[in-house]
Amino acid sequence: MRKQKLTTSVVELLTKLRDEHPGEQIRAVEIGVWKGTSSRYFLEQIPELRLIMIDPWAAMQEYLDSGDKTAKRSQDEFDAIAELARRNTEDYADRRLVIRKTSAEAAKLFGPESMHLVFIDGNHGPKFVAQDLRLWWPKIKPRGILCGHDYGGRRCNAGVKPAVDQWAAETGQTLEFLPDKVFWTRKAA
Ligand SMILES: C[S@@+](CC[C@H](N)C(=O)[O-])C[C@H]1O[C@@H](n2cnc3c(N)ncnc32)[C@H](O)[C@@H]1O
Repeated sequence: MRKQKLTTSVVELLTKLRDEHPGEQIRAVEIGVWKGTSSRYFLEQIPELRLIMIDPWAAMQEYLDSGDKTAKRSQDEFDAIAELARRNTEDYADRRLVIRKTSAEAAKLFGPESMHLVFIDGNHGPKFVAQDLRLWWPKIKPRGILCGHDYGGRRCNAGVKPAVDQWAAETGQTLEFLPDKVFWTRKAA
């Protein structure tokens, strides 16, 4: 149910972009993929979508420090989950690109204003959310959308809101909200 609301919210944003760019490919990034179930839904719902799926699937101290219980998996388990994410999106292999790196490493691979949408759902520690906002905002095209999950979340997600609020105050961006703690904002033309 939770998953359903999150994916529906992001699909609403992708649909908006698709309708604004008739006949064009919509380029989007998902930062933090886990099992690829959201990725699959996005690809299924939006045939025009070209999705870049970024996740290190790695047992890393910096992820453990975020307090997310999924970070406690062994490297063997992460390897199996990475494989599952590929399998879950295999039907759309021609429209998805899996990049097994941290979002900071992957950001180096893309030029400015190259994406219609960036969805931030990786390491929810405040330092990493701030880093994702800083590194990926320039990658978004004019009139493109930045969005993310767990705004206003509690416990291990409690750092998302302060990081996003601070970024919005610094950049002057207005935040909007959708069901299941999704925030979003649009770049000026
Ligand atoms: C909340 S889950 C993602 C859920 C997924 N978006 C969904 O809707 O099913 C968080 C994911 O972020 C990944 N992750 C952790 N640190 C990351 C980083 N620095 N860059 C990108 N992804 C990261 C984890 O491996 C994990 O798969």
